[in-house]
Amino acid sequence: MTISLPTRPIGGDISAEEQQFNDLIAQDSRIEPRDWMPEAYRKTLIRQIAQHAHSEIIGMQPESNWILRAPSLKRKAILIAKVQDEAGHGLYLYSAAQTLGVGRDEMTEQLIAGTARYSSIFNYATPTWADMGSIGWLVDGAAICNQVPLCRASYGPYGRAMVRICKEESFHQRQGFEILLELMNGTPEQRQMAQESVNRWYWPALMMFGPPDDDSPNSARSMAWKIKRFSNDELRRRFVGMLVPQAEVLGLTLPDPDLTWNEEKQAYDMGQPDWDEFHEVLAGRGQMNAQRMQRRRDAHDEGAWVREAAAAYAARQSATTERVVA
Ligand SMILES: [Fe+2]
Ligand SMILES: [Fe+2]
Repeated sequence: MTISLPTRPIGGDISAEEQQFNDLIAQDSRIEPRDWMPEAYRKTLIRQIAQHAHSEIIGMQPESNWILRAPSLKRKAILIAKVQDEAGHGLYLYSAAQTLGVGRDEMTEQLIAGTARYSSIFNYATPTWADMGSIGWLVDGAAICNQVPLCRASYGPYGRAMVRICKEESFHQRQGFEILLELMNGTPEQRQMAQESVNRWYWPALMMFGPPDDDSPNSARSMAWKIKRFSNDELRRRFVGMLVPQAEVLGLTLPDPDLTWNEEKQAYDMGQPDWDEFHEVLAGRGQMNAQRMQRRRDAHDEGAWVREAAAAYAARQSATTERVVA
């Protein structure tokens, strides 16, 4: 289901700028902030990049919850580094969105007011240490599958931000895998904790690719604009194909009784996530929606003095520079 963009004027009603935009897309070239772009393209990107940035920031919470309880100094150091990486991802992405003319304050206000979305996966609880393994292996793993194609997104600042983010995500995925591997090499209780955690995270991780293709109305346009390169279902299939051999190494069972190799299709047949649950969490009625939002609002309020101090410092610096220049 692809829509092709017109590559030559139809009845002369395409402006030279629009023609140039269409040509750049057709050539797999990049759109940069100074280039003309259709308003709908700009709006789609702002929505997607801001949503992605918010997900990185809210996504710090389920794991920061475990920093003080990490089972060793090594695990604590790794977890702190990972949560800090996620903050960095949020910053790259907010910067990319700002090049489209939206203010950072505006995006933050929308997140705090609850009018902007973030990935539903972060509205699930993390009751055990094994969840740190499952988040790395499954959630960061799904993020990689989603984001590697975004490195080639047609909008330059977004694609370039994704390159660095993907490098860090692959470290995140490996550290999650390693947590699970260590648990699976441990006591029966540790193995049970790992399996039970994977049972809880597997389906929500598959939901991260979004609704099924026939229920994803904006996908075709995003693909025509080369923001998105693969459909939700295609990415989901790829992800599961990546997980199966890794689950075998770990000795973990993926909780899908319908998961079987289809020789003819050369791909896995699989069951469907609970889409009712997906819509419930999206509507704000997941396990942790209210807590995540409250924590974010509190952190914003508690950080007010830092923002004020930074603004005062910047004002003093620019006043000093002006005096020096004068
Ligand atoms: Fe991230
Ligand atoms: Fe990550």
